[in-house]
Amino acid sequence: MQIWTPDSWRSKPIVQQPDYQDAAALTRVEQQLSAQPPLVFAGEIRSLQQQLADVAEGRAFLLQGGDCAESFSEFSADKIRDTFKVMLQMAVVMTFAGSSPVVKVGRMAGQFAKPRSTDMETIDGVELPSYRGDIVNDIEFTGESRAADPERLLRAYHQASSTLNLMRAFAQGGMADLNQVHKWNLGFVEQSPLGEKYQHLADQIDQTLAFMAACGINASTTPQLHQTSVYTSHEALLLGYEQALTRQDSLTGDWYDCSAHMLWIGDRTRQPDHAHVEFLRGVKNPIGCKVGPTTKVEDLIRLLDTLNPDNTPGRMTLIARMGADGITEHLPKLVQAVKAEGRSVVWSSDPMHGNTIKASSGYKTRSVDSILREVRGFFDVHRAEGTHAGGVHFEMTGQNVTECIGGAFQITEEGLADRYHTHCDPRLNGEQALELAFMIADTLKGARD
Ligand code: PEP
Ligand code: CO
Repeated sequence: MQIWTPDSWRSKPIVQQPDYQDAAALTRVEQQLSAQPPLVFAGEIRSLQQQLADVAEGRAFLLQGGDCAESFSEFSADKIRDTFKVMLQMAVVMTFAGSSPVVKVGRMAGQFAKPRSTDMETIDGVELPSYRGDIVNDIEFTGESRAADPERLLRAYHQASSTLNLMRAFAQGGMADLNQVHKWNLGFVEQSPLGEKYQHLADQIDQTLAFMAACGINASTTPQLHQTSVYTSHEALLLGYEQALTRQDSLTGDWYDCSAHMLWIGDRTRQPDHAHVEFLRGVKNPIGCKVGPTTKVEDLIRLLDTLNPDNTPGRMTLIARMGADGITEHLPKLVQAVKAEGRSVVWSSDPMHGNTIKASSGYKTRSVDSILREVRGFFDVHRAEGTHAGGVHFEMTGQNVTECIGGAFQITEEGLADRYHTHCDPRLNGEQALELAFMIADTLKGARD
């Protein structure tokens, strides 16, 4: 294999890239980004890798979630806080009811760039470049808005930096204290049966904490009761951005992509001999790779050979997104091959991207039922194969949106228009996300009993 350098991807074929009109402006921005501080640090990335190694061994569970696409307009402290609270709620449900430590990874602080099914979009006979995420162009359907603008890379970097700053504060500054477990319930969720179920669990946690405190175990003796770790991740799609934030660790000499702790390769950019795989093989971060109904066994093994030649536990997370109807058909042969080859991977379920449908009103949506069905199918396959169902990957928000149908509030196709705010794919709202967490907790518990 050829020598890897941070820019060796540039000589490989590449898909899903914006068409920047001014190449010099792009280069200038990439140079400016290279001079910015890293967003995350090598030591943190290594901690995540160790935790994911535990997940691969079945000793912990991965919860990865957040927006399909972060946006410049939907950026506020309240929105970050609410998504953070839902992640904490889901994690505490899985930890307490499912008796499994949970590794929390946000699709946050950098999840801006989107692959698209077509390069161009046509509305009423007018053809314009597709929207590729706020880091590239604007969603508004005008020629000016849809032009790819390199300055957006800098704005995305700064927004990621502010988001991460707040996430670190929430994780370490008291909000994640287990004594605050009641306060993580969001107003609109409290009204639902799930809110009540959560209150009940929070009461049990209170009692447990009181008992532990009486035994001398409290936040000052055990910092884990008071703070948590939350990691960041996004799809590594714009490799110029990723390269600019890639730094050599002074301790080990290894290269790390310091734009996020974990990076993943999307379903459309996982060609083994293309640029995305080339770039990610050289950085030491934990790497995710989406696997879909079209993933062939040979290609998957080749990807693992390239991305994880030393078979390091925690390095690779395979994120299955097969669709509720496809999971039991397509997943077993991949799981069997990975097991037969003795590869250490985290298997995670993305029950979102194989279940997207178009409602008659034209909205892209997903039903909570098919999402639940795919997660159940994922657990069933792993139970049958004797492998670990390691985690889940959700598009979700703490906002009370109406983007996915079903759930305790029974959002209908007609109701989608009420609060449909996503910039890309439909997200679970806080209540729907919590419902999934309870289902997963039951399954985890069942697997342990
Ligand atoms: C995504 O995670 O938003 C995405 C585009 O997924 P996939 O690559 O699996 O289609
Ligand atoms: Co998506």
